[in-house]
Amino acid sequence: MDTSDYARWFRDSTPYISRHRNSTFVVLLDGAAFNSANLANIVHDLALVHVLGARLVLVHGARPQLDRNLTDSVFHQGRRITRPADLPAITGTYGELRSRLEAMFSTGLPSSPLHQTDIAVISGNFITAQPLGIVDGVDHELTGATRKVHTRRLRLALDSGALVLLSPIGYSPSGQAFNLASDELATDVALALGADKLVIFNPAEALTGDNGERLSVMSPSELDTYLSQQSGADVNHLHCALRACRGGVKNTQLIGYEKDGALLNELYTAKGDGTQITESLHDLIRPARQEDVASIVEIIRPLEDQGILVRRSRDRLEQEIGHFLVAEIDSTVVGCCAVYPYENAAELACVVVHPSYRDRLTDEGSGQLSIGSALLEAAEAAARTASAQNLFALTTQTRDWFLENGFIDNTPDALPAPKQALYNYQRNSRVMIKPLD
Ligand SMILES: CC(C)(COP(=O)(O)OP(=O)(O)OC[C@H]1O[C@@H](n2cnc3c(N)ncnc32)[C@H](O)[C@@H]1OP(=O)(O)O)[C@@H](O)C(=O)NCCC(=O)NCCS
Repeated sequence: MDTSDYARWFRDSTPYISRHRNSTFVVLLDGAAFNSANLANIVHDLALVHVLGARLVLVHGARPQLDRNLTDSVFHQGRRITRPADLPAITGTYGELRSRLEAMFSTGLPSSPLHQTDIAVISGNFITAQPLGIVDGVDHELTGATRKVHTRRLRLALDSGALVLLSPIGYSPSGQAFNLASDELATDVALALGADKLVIFNPAEALTGDNGERLSVMSPSELDTYLSQQSGADVNHLHCALRACRGGVKNTQLIGYEKDGALLNELYTAKGDGTQITESLHDLIRPARQEDVASIVEIIRPLEDQGILVRRSRDRLEQEIGHFLVAEIDSTVVGCCAVYPYENAAELACVVVHPSYRDRLTDEGSGQLSIGSALLEAAEAAARTASAQNLFALTTQTRDWFLENGFIDNTPDALPAPKQALYNYQRNSRVMIKPLD
């Protein structure tokens, strides 16, 4: 990255820095991440996110470490049965991992990115646990589940400016320790705190579609369908993501722990990283259907009459409806856009918001978003799914809006060849391009 790229990246991240300040993120760090060469980068990135004002609760797992230390463990439906004799090895393993993370957050050497950041890390009895009990006739002994998350205690710790670090262990009112599943604990904490985001560090970078393409955004019901098609795979994290979204966590993000910078990409760039599971953006924006054609015509005709949009016949709209996305509020189509993929690029066309809904913020997706920007975000996700590296638009009167949304002026010869051939020099539209990488 040269200096100007760096400056641009830094500037572009400003809205995200503001948006995330004082937001609460619960982050699950899979036990396998401790074996990754990228662990130090993850800790540095978490420290940076903390310094930029987000409130972080970090929950760590320890499955590979426990597998190594407890070679004769018995499992039921993927869950370890915790025998009382195993508990010292389990608490010892958790203590070791927690201490490793605390040590990494405490590194203050001048050569370290954590130099002069001085982060307080707090752990403690933030959870009351209960035994899981007997499931399918199998006694789970000291394997437990969350009985209560002490949100007041957690908030006080976060208010004090500390990062909260939780091991998957909880105590019953009688003082008995219970071994918990880290992903379930992270989900319970995110739900109890009403977290803005649950971030799950996974072995895989993202969920992928049939052709191996990254699925950048998914609704909970799409994730549900995806899960029903997975047989035998380790999908506990995904079930947790689904439970978090359905329980009201606006945004759950699956990112890869092997990928350097995945957390920063996810939080501070429009492109994001991994797979985002969110209900609200999907509630607002959805693919158009044939029965939406009449509503789309109603929204775009006045702009066609003014010459702002190129006229499309109703027949053409019906044929191209598969390229359209619509914004819908209270069962009414209030906006639309179309995404036409080309080789390596995609065209964003026909972005229109109904006049009564323009310049209006909705509390959707990952924060406050206008309908125009929600359409743009969904269009970018669709373009990425089609492996586009650029999104381009031709505009005569809306240049500033595109500029404000990350597009850059360009010339017709930057367009994909088939589009160049159709470029109408008389209309003299401006060519605006937004790099998606
Ligand atoms: C462009 C449009 C989709 C934005 O929708 P929105 O939900 O209002 O989205 P945003 O909140 O992101 O944009 C609003 C801002 O863009 C500005 N804006 C809207 N149209 C603009 C234009 N033609 N030129 C410059 N700025 C424009 C608004 O003044 C507002 O600015 P503000 O934030 O300083 O108040 C919507 O204004 C619209 O439908 N415009 C008419 C259709 C159009 O021009 N489409 C582009 C075809 S190429």
